[in-house]
This record gives sequence, structure tokens and C-alpha cells, in this order.
Amino acid sequence: MPTSAASTPRAYAIESGCAEALASFKLPQTLGFGLVTAPVMYSAEFDGSSWSNKQLLKYGPLEILPGARALQYAELVFEGMKAYRVGKDQPNLFRPHDHWRRLANSSERLSIPVLPEAVFMEGLEAMVRACAPFIPRISKQALYLRPFVYGTEAGYLIRNSTTLRFIIIANPSEVYQSGALSVAIERLDARAANGGTGTAKTGGNYAASLRASSAASARGHHVVLWLDAPEHRYVQELSGMNLFAVIDGNLHTPELDGTILPGITRDSLIAIARRDGMPLQQRRIEIDELLRQVREGRCTELFACGTAAIVSPIKQLVDADGAVYAPAQVDTIAAQLRESLLSIQERRAADTFGWTREVQVG
Ligand code: COI
Repeated sequence: MPTSAASTPRAYAIESGCAEALASFKLPQTLGFGLVTAPVMYSAEFDGSSWSNKQLLKYGPLEILPGARALQYAELVFEGMKAYRVGKDQPNLFRPHDHWRRLANSSERLSIPVLPEAVFMEGLEAMVRACAPFIPRISKQALYLRPFVYGTEAGYLIRNSTTLRFIIIANPSEVYQSGALSVAIERLDARAANGGTGTAKTGGNYAASLRASSAASARGHHVVLWLDAPEHRYVQELSGMNLFAVIDGNLHTPELDGTILPGITRDSLIAIARRDGMPLQQRRIEIDELLRQVREGRCTELFACGTAAIVSPIKQLVDADGAVYAPAQVDTIAAQLRESLLSIQERRAADTFGWTREVQVG
């Protein structure tokens, strides 16, 4: 069952000028993804023992010491999540507790003190309330929320920062990428290895992906498909998205093997597939076997999923030698799953999973 945010008294300050910035904000006709920035941001600071200085600020540059460990050693974890306002008048978040849990897991992997859930929720609700007038009311559009925690203490000793800052910025957005994806299989670089930080949502993983992503983009592809680091034999994930394949009529997705980001959209699709009686396997998927199955017509469809992307159809996998593997179907099962998920996220269908959380805006 959906939950509703309790109305607790406001415990954060609101910087003067926020009201004016919000009142003068106009939602453009075309949003793109992450291109339009909400005029406010939430901020809280950790001094080594407690979180304080909680404020809603006007969106703008952050002051940071050049030697801060976030800049020098990438001590930063983040989340990507959405607030919706489509099916009902009051906006809602999607699985905010699970996003907090993942942020906590990412923090633990970097041994960053865990942000209390209450501060995370307060920040989200502050942003949703402030931005409610311009949360898009069109299906597939949403307010994308980007909470992040980073080490602010300067120093070159390789240890954690004792001080942290938590910020949430937001962007009224369309989906990450529209249209079917052309996916470049990466046979040289690796995104994550066993024991590394692949399961954490941390900037370093995305930095590791940039060289291959830029090269793939220069060759006309949308995204890279990562393989395991030791052998380049097993499928991991796409940059910022998880992968699903329809093989012999069943859904298959790489198992969470300690190198893959545990996508909340991935988990939601698995739950929906199970509810709808669709056979599903989480397993090690060999890239060469998958390519053979596409060629033989046994793998009929491929798709990617993530918070920003929702469910993106894949039109082709392209290998390093230029060979193209195009499944027979594009956006058939993917479209069904996307609509099942979106109808819950947007509260056009009953939320029997208890994933949505309403934020009362009055
Ligand atoms: C998300 O889906 O929220 C992500 O963080 C992926 C990013 C590539 C936009």
C-alpha cells in the first residue's frame, strides 16, 4: 500500500530569495534530461558528529576547498530518483526508503558515515514541496532528484573526510534517452571488478566509464555494455542502466554478482515480472552466448532500465569488430513492463507493492 509523508514541523531554514526564485521559475516546453535546473537546492552539513545547518538554498555554485577529499579522492556517493505528479494531484516519490538504503550501502563501501534516513527524507520532501508547481504532469516526465554526499575536509592523507555535505538538486525532466539504443560492447576497458566499487553509486564508477563511452559515442552508439573485468566474458551492465534479455520467451538479467549496481528499476521490473507470472532468471550471462542467441533468433528482445531511462528498448548490440547483432523485436516486452512500472510510479494504477510515497503539498 502507498504511504504518505507525515506532516512534521519544518526543521530546516529557507534562505531569503528562495520564494522569489521559485515564483519566477517557468517550466520550458522542452525539458530534455537534466537540462532544466530547479531554482532551489537542499543542503545539510556533518561536522564529524551530527548533521546540522539544514537549509533550502537558491540553486547556485557550491563553495568547496580545492583540497577537499571529494575533489582529490572522489569521496562522493549519490542517488538518482524521481518525484511524479501525473495520476493524482499530490506529488509522490518512488521507493524513497530503498534509495536511502542504497545511498547508505554506497556510503558504507566508501566508509563515509551514513546520512540518517530522516535527513534524506526531510531534504526530499523539502525539494518536492518547493518544486511541486513545476513537477511535470505529463506521463514519462518527472522531477529528477539528485541527492549526493561528499567529503569536504581538505587533505591528501588517504583517509575519510571527517566533515561532509549533503545536497539535493532537482531537474524537471523527460526520459534519459528517447528511441531505441545502439549499444557498443566494450572489450577492453572495465567498469568494475570483484571487490571494487561497482555496487556503489559513486562518481568514480562513472569516471571509469567515460573513455569507452566517449569512444562509443564517436562511433554513433548511445551507450556501452560492460563485461566482467578479469575475462571480458560475462555481461555486467550498461553505463547507468541494467540489462534485460528475452531468451526463448523468458526474461534473463545478469545476477547481482558484487560488480553491478543494484538498480531499483531492475528490482521493480523483477517484482512486476514475478507478479505477472513471467519466467525470469538472474544468472551469469556469457556475451558470446547472448550474441549467438540473437543471431539464432532465440534472443528476441533486449532492453535497458534505470531510474532516468525507465525502460529503454535496444535496437542492436555492436561488437568491437563492427559486427551488428539486432534482435527481431524492439520494445514489445519492454513496452509492457515500462507501462506496468510507470502506471504505478505515476499512480495511475494501484500500488500493491507499497512503493509510492505521497508528499502533501497542501
Ligand atoms: C539514474 O538512472 O538515476 C542514474 O543515475 C543514471 C544516470 C546515467 C543518469
